[in-house]
Amino acid sequence: MKVEIIILFLFIQNSVRAKDAFTIQFIKSFIQNEGKPTHLIYGGLCWKKNVINKLVIEVSKVGVRTSASFKPLSKYQDHAIMYLTDLDCEQSNEVISYASEKELFQFTYRWLVLVSSPELKEEKLPLLEDGPVLVDSDLVLAERVGDQFQMVEMHRPGINGTMITSPRGFYNGSLVDTRPNRELYKRRRNMMGHPIIMSNVIQDSNTTRYHLPREDRL
Ligand SMILES: *[C@@H]1O[C@H](CO)[C@@H](O)[C@H](O)[C@H]1NC(C)=O
Ligand SMILES: *[C@@H]1O[C@H](CO)[C@@H](O)[C@H](O)[C@H]1NC(C)=O
Ligand SMILES: *[C@@H]1O[C@H](CO)[C@@H](O)[C@H](O)[C@H]1NC(C)=O
Repeated sequence: MKVEIIILFLFIQNSVRAKDAFTIQFIKSFIQNEGKPTHLIYGGLCWKKNVINKLVIEVSKVGVRTSASFKPLSKYQDHAIMYLTDLDCEQSNEVISYASEKELFQFTYRWLVLVSSPELKEEKLPLLEDGPVLVDSDLVLAERVGDQFQMVEMHRPGINGTMITSPRGFYNGSLVDTRPNRELYKRRRNMMGHPIIMSNVIQDSNTTRYHLPREDRL
């Protein structure tokens, strides 16, 4: 029992140490590549405080505000919200359950989910796969493999459908985006016979006219 605890402790230490400047630069590049107004909300991170501080400072340099609270913000900010979590951290389980329950995987929220250990990926992926990550979800799983992050998009075409994973690109110091096009709806045309269960009500106002072209969604 004691040995297990020590091993677990070393393991956590290790994964914390692995959150280095490279990870922070990746997150920053990812946001910049999106080119959208962004409010970054992080949760379930077991990173050291100074690493989190560094993340906050680095993304603020590109005009991104951060917060650690999942409490709903003003509706007007919804379109800017990008959630960040790290499957290497135990606490990310709670974040994923909370997000599933509160429907935070749906339009208009974006997600960046990090993972570095293949074992954890195997263990945690079912959480996402069973969750409501559907056709309107914009969720990117970024796996650290050596000195690269490999990015995939995940979604299920229907509530009972199997998860579809499509390549999104990689980061090796520069971010290479391999999406065939940026509009989500163009990439998600094949519903594989699943009924469409979502709907978006779009009010034609001056605000939507301003925001919609910036969302790459519709
Ligand atoms: C999904 O599966 C559940 C249980 O198997 C079933 O009750 C439900 O009708 C299915 N929903 C759809 C949309 O196929
Ligand atoms: C990253 O990948 C791109 C595209 O394959 C390549 O052109 C570039 O040289 C790579 N950068 C590094 C630092 O390896
Ligand atoms: C919307 O934009 C139009 C044209 O720019 C302007 O005339 C109108 O007053 C605006 N409406 C509101 C409610 O801001």
